Amino acid sequence: MRIVKSPKKMQEICINLKNQGKVISFVPTMGYLHEGHLSLMRIAKKKSDILVVSIFVNPTQFGPKEDFKRYPRDLKRDKRLLKEIGCDFIFMPDIKDMYPKMYDTYVEVEDLTKILEGKSRPEHFKGVTTVVAKLFNIIQPDIAVFGQKDFQQAVVVKKMVKDLNLPVKIIIAPTVREKSGLALSSRNEYLSSEEKKQVTALYRSLKLSEKMIASGERDSRKIISEMRKLIQKKPKAKIDYISINDSESLKPLNKLKGNVVISLAVLIGKTRLIDNIKIRV
Ligand code: PAJ
Repeated sequence: MRIVKSPKKMQEICINLKNQGKVISFVPTMGYLHEGHLSLMRIAKKKSDILVVSIFVNPTQFGPKEDFKRYPRDLKRDKRLLKEIGCDFIFMPDIKDMYPKMYDTYVEVEDLTKILEGKSRPEHFKGVTTVVAKLFNIIQPDIAVFGQKDFQQAVVVKKMVKDLNLPVKIIIAPTVREKSGLALSSRNEYLSSEEKKQVTALYRSLKLSEKMIASGERDSRKIISEMRKLIQKKPKAKIDYISINDSESLKPLNKLKGNVVISLAVLIGKTRLIDNIKIRV
């Protein structure tokens, strides 16, 4: 396993590998790796000759009041996990090399980023699509794997790839959860033990919506209202949004039909968590 910091060097290495006919897979991350990240890497490895993983806490996707500075980091542990998984290259650029002084170019997917996470976190997706486009240009992967956990991010990246004719296949991998149902996230680190107990209400509310749909309910408002009641029982929980949307166009749905995604963002104390499930109605 090699660690590369320079974008130029990383690009040279990848171009050489591609010229040798190697299939490159890529998993972008912000580090502090957990089983969710590792599951994407296992999928990527199976489909390629060379696995590249990036670790870069991307400043442009954090809002001014968000947790960029305190985002958890543990490089030593990350390196050990990546070695165990059989990662070939870790790309770990410095901020100054990704965004040098006078940096001036951004990639933006317009409509899909105006709702849900984009509404609560303006500029967030602009930062994500910009860094992902840069990473794709540096690594030039044949395949890139993203998690369903951040489903809007996955939809937005897919749209960018389609609209900009980028030669990369995007694979979306299922969400890995704790036994309690809590979706793994680097930000779970911020939760106190009391908050960790209360946070299980998020997944339970998603399961409740699944149950209601299975028993024939098709009215979004009724489903969302029951989910709200369940989450509001937890004193530490403050709902940002609960939404039911078409899973591709992301159009909000009043009546459920087709492939739907039920998603939520909830503050538990100071920690903002997101989760979702996809259901075919
Ligand atoms: P990060 O939050 O580190 O996540 C990296 C990848 O892991 C994303 O594709 C995310 O959806 C996936 N992931 C996170 N938790 C998961 C879980 N419990 N199960 C399955 N997959 C999970 O997402 C980002 O970083 C950044 O926005 C990035 C794409 C790297 C751009 O900076």
